[in-house]
Amino acid sequence: MQSIAQTLNKSQIGKEVTLHGWVYRIRTSGKLTFIILRDSTGIVQLLSSTKSLSDDQHRELSNLTVESSLEVSGIVKEDKRAVTGYEVEITSYKIYQRNESFPISRDLGEEFLLDNRHLWLRSREFTAVLKVRSTIFKAFNDFYYENGYYQVQPPIMVSTATEGGSTLFKVPFFGEEVSLSQSSQFYLETFIFSLEKVFTISPSFRAEKSRTRRHLTEYWHAEAEVAWIGNEEMMQVEEKMIEYIVAKVVRENEEELKLLGRDIDFLKNIKAPFQRIRYADLMKMAQGWGLNLKYGDDLGADEERDIMVHFDRPIFVTHFPRSLKTFYHLPDPENPEEILCHDLLAPEGYGEILGGGERIWDLKQLEQRMAESNLDTRDYYWYLDLRRYGSVPHSGFGLGLDRLAWWIMKQETIRDAIPYPRTIRRTKP
Ligand code: 4AD
Ligand code: MG
Repeated sequence: MQSIAQTLNKSQIGKEVTLHGWVYRIRTSGKLTFIILRDSTGIVQLLSSTKSLSDDQHRELSNLTVESSLEVSGIVKEDKRAVTGYEVEITSYKIYQRNESFPISRDLGEEFLLDNRHLWLRSREFTAVLKVRSTIFKAFNDFYYENGYYQVQPPIMVSTATEGGSTLFKVPFFGEEVSLSQSSQFYLETFIFSLEKVFTISPSFRAEKSRTRRHLTEYWHAEAEVAWIGNEEMMQVEEKMIEYIVAKVVRENEEELKLLGRDIDFLKNIKAPFQRIRYADLMKMAQGWGLNLKYGDDLGADEERDIMVHFDRPIFVTHFPRSLKTFYHLPDPENPEEILCHDLLAPEGYGEILGGGERIWDLKQLEQRMAESNLDTRDYYWYLDLRRYGSVPHSGFGLGLDRLAWWIMKQETIRDAIPYPRTIRRTKP
């Protein structure tokens, strides 16, 4: 059994091949029927005619519907008029299922396609999305393995918030309550004392009420934590990682990017180092562009979009005012009102795809920041223990892989970049 991609090849001309797949399109002129067959590797034109099949067989094939499943054997011919330059003239076949008419055709609304995502996955567009995602996930893993990191598996059901209580998902737990992890960061911090450089890809959950182009309630979070390094060194690792992933997608998914209409030259230009801009300077730049932003304002989806249309590479925004960030971030010793952290914003109006920085590693300082944030230190006893026993400077980050995929493929919304988006209004299919 061959795949379609293996068939589309000069060396196959004149040979007999056997293929498995689904009907992608079908058109008949009575005497000749052209079936475009689809499998995971691509599409190819099949020809059914009474030259090599009986009248009954030809009729049966001509009556197939879109998405019917079959196996065919036939001879490969070169055909300049066929979509992919080759055609397979069917000599025998087996139909697995001739289905009812497929519910999805062109030009259906976004909500209909989301309701039918389980079927829409097979479209050429979504197959391309899935292939690009697969490359992104692999590339993230490869990069960190190649750089001496260990992959670890933190828990998903937890009893501490990392990113604030307001976006916690609560789950009943034998008469008590736990929440779904918002970030593996605190657990990753526990692992650095044995492994020093660690990473994970885990789902994270945010009870975000907002319905924006970039929010999911469940998303894939790639996070790393490293002992002995500071904010700047962390950014140096991250920019190389982003460059590595983008380059890998460009190399391995050129066909998919073309199908999705993505400008590949633009991606080829995504090279480290990325510009570092202090939050305070960015606010001044934003004012220069006529944006209504001042020091102290938080950056949401809209603000970041308006800023990032001015860039064609990602940028690091550093030194946020401490009022805007969570308690664990290290205040800058030179100016404690600002913190040693960074957000990585994607260009073309996409905005934040990664957040990271240096962590407070002094026990007293951390306790004080927790008190300021009204957190009960008893809930975080194990996190504080890390500052009691052999504490070291360390930094880390979290990258939203769905956001990265969304930007790399330049999709309309993040929901177009994940197979089964979970949002405030959607838990099905
Ligand atoms: O900026 P966030 O909230 O930072 C953290 O969770 C840190 N504890 C991570 C760390 O340092 N280990 O989230 C990190 C990233 C964001 O930059 C964004 O890409 C993604 O996670 N993200 C979301 N992606 C999709 N939908 C949401 N609702 C997201 N919230 C965050
Ligand atoms: Mg953030």
